[in-house]
Amino acid sequence: MAWAANEITMSKKDNLSAVERIKTASEGLRGTLKESLRDAVTGAIREDDQSLVKFHGMYQQDDRDRREERSQKKLEWLYFFMIRLRIPGGFLKPEQWIDLHHIAGEHSTGVIKITTRQTVQLHGILKSHIKPTIKAFNISHLDSIAACGDVNRNVLCSAHPAQSAIHEEIFRYADKISTLALPKSRAYYEVWLDEEPLADKQEDDPLYQDRYLPRKFKIAIAIPPDNDIDVFTNDIGLIAIIENNELKGFNIAAGGGLSTTHGNAATYARLGTVLGFVNSEEKVLKAVYEIMTIQRDHGNRSDRKLARLKYTIDRMGVNVFKEELEKRCGFELENTRPYRFTERKDYYGWQQNHEGKWYYTLFVENGRVLDEKGLPLKTALLEVAKTGKANFRFTGNQNVILSDIAETDKPVIEAILSKFGISDHTNNTGILRKNSMACVAFNTCPLALAEGQRYLPSLISKIEPLLEKYTLQDEPITLRMTGCPNGCARPYAAEIGLVGTAYGQYNLHIGGDRLGERLNTKFKENLDEEQILQTLEELFAVYSRERKGDETFGDFSNKKWIHNTVI
Ligand code: HEM
Ligand code: SF4
Repeated sequence: MAWAANEITMSKKDNLSAVERIKTASEGLRGTLKESLRDAVTGAIREDDQSLVKFHGMYQQDDRDRREERSQKKLEWLYFFMIRLRIPGGFLKPEQWIDLHHIAGEHSTGVIKITTRQTVQLHGILKSHIKPTIKAFNISHLDSIAACGDVNRNVLCSAHPAQSAIHEEIFRYADKISTLALPKSRAYYEVWLDEEPLADKQEDDPLYQDRYLPRKFKIAIAIPPDNDIDVFTNDIGLIAIIENNELKGFNIAAGGGLSTTHGNAATYARLGTVLGFVNSEEKVLKAVYEIMTIQRDHGNRSDRKLARLKYTIDRMGVNVFKEELEKRCGFELENTRPYRFTERKDYYGWQQNHEGKWYYTLFVENGRVLDEKGLPLKTALLEVAKTGKANFRFTGNQNVILSDIAETDKPVIEAILSKFGISDHTNNTGILRKNSMACVAFNTCPLALAEGQRYLPSLISKIEPLLEKYTLQDEPITLRMTGCPNGCARPYAAEIGLVGTAYGQYNLHIGGDRLGERLNTKFKENLDEEQILQTLEELFAVYSRERKGDETFGDFSNKKWIHNTVI
């Protein structure tokens, strides 16, 4: 069926979702946030403000472990907030890490959570602590604007500078795109930083207007051969094309997105489709901008479950979408340029770049930086930061790269890592664990059906002996777990994905490739721990017996169990 503009404009005025009305009535994302903050009777904010606060990088949450106890005592739930920073490309200077360390200690649970999208979030911030937290971040030149909500969120970029001589040049695009897609509203400064409204309030927002996007929007830049940021899982994925050490431009992929809803067959995970190539900064920024305007104008504003760009593109058809993009841009995309990904994992340990600078990638299990018995990671990173000799870079796999270290400074950093057992921990951790990720889930995520980061470490300890039994312990298999089908730790783009369906139960997905270019497929439903272990053992036994050469677990599973094509 041919596409027509009126067919895809799903946002009939009388059929808008509740969030759409909240956005347009919010006066530039202000709503009644100031009143909500002043209300000392409750630790929560007003219901409509709970939608708006996301655009300022925060989620209202509560301690789900304590709901029952609080209800019994006739107390309201223990409300607090999660604040997520906007850190394009995931880069902090050592002074900023020191500030973050102290802000986390003073205002949150103290755990610094490195996310799967190269930023940081702090949990457990009480309502009265939000403003002091945002003010402290502001002094450190950090903000949380647009880190959540129906806007473009944190922009990712392949993390490791040693992987390309022109990393810095490409990395700067993350910042440019982030700035391009920032909401124009000054609400953040007025509500959280007590700034006076500007006299001539110029807040026209040509990109977001007063309705913002129909749903969250994610952008990432990959620098081949690394797909560490899982470029195809984003609404827009840019693939840097480098020839003779020169940045020639970007292939543009669009329509990636992972979240699905259990029981809603209309929802699905999708990898981005590569549309073509552009050869200049001006063109890439224009194309990114216009992809967002198409989504703004044609995305579904009635049903939030079907509102991501992936559904808009599939409804329009890829070719029509591309034509519309070219029309809005005023230029045509060139043919896609060749590229090849060969890696998705992080390069643990020391690496050196073309200028002789050193980089140390350390393993942070599920991105949680805290001091644990025998592993005082938070203290160690503070010591590193205090030397002022290393920058901090976050990877899309929730790890930290201590970066840009001069040859002469390397021994100092090395000594700290060794003193606190960080290098031993990174060296001695098993490869499955190093290639695993879990989302937050309990106790804070209101959407969690099952455990994520609190459970995966112990499950891995039970899977590791199975791998050893079949001499697979050195296979870099990717394993990702989430507490619900929203997929925050990208489980559908892993060789083994575990997606929570109920407390203690997970769907098992297999058959994804190692590089993030093929999604996995649901293999079994609602498995408890015993069933997960039993099933994996059966799969590992067959894989170790029948694999051909260095065939990956994902490729083998896809052929053997998903498509039954192994002879
Ligand atoms: C309908 C879809 C989704 C919803 C409603 C959703 C909601 C949430 C919520 C409520 C949290 C906060 C959890 C907490 O801090 O306690 C969260 C965290 C997060 N989500 Fe999502 N999410 C969705 C899909 C995704 C997808 C597909 C990705 C990336 C592929 C993603 C990336 C993240 C990241 C990076 C975090 C931060 C914590 C972490 O690294 O686990 N989300 N999400
Ligand atoms: S995947 Fe689900 S449970 Fe996990 S953080 Fe995202 S929304 Fe919460």
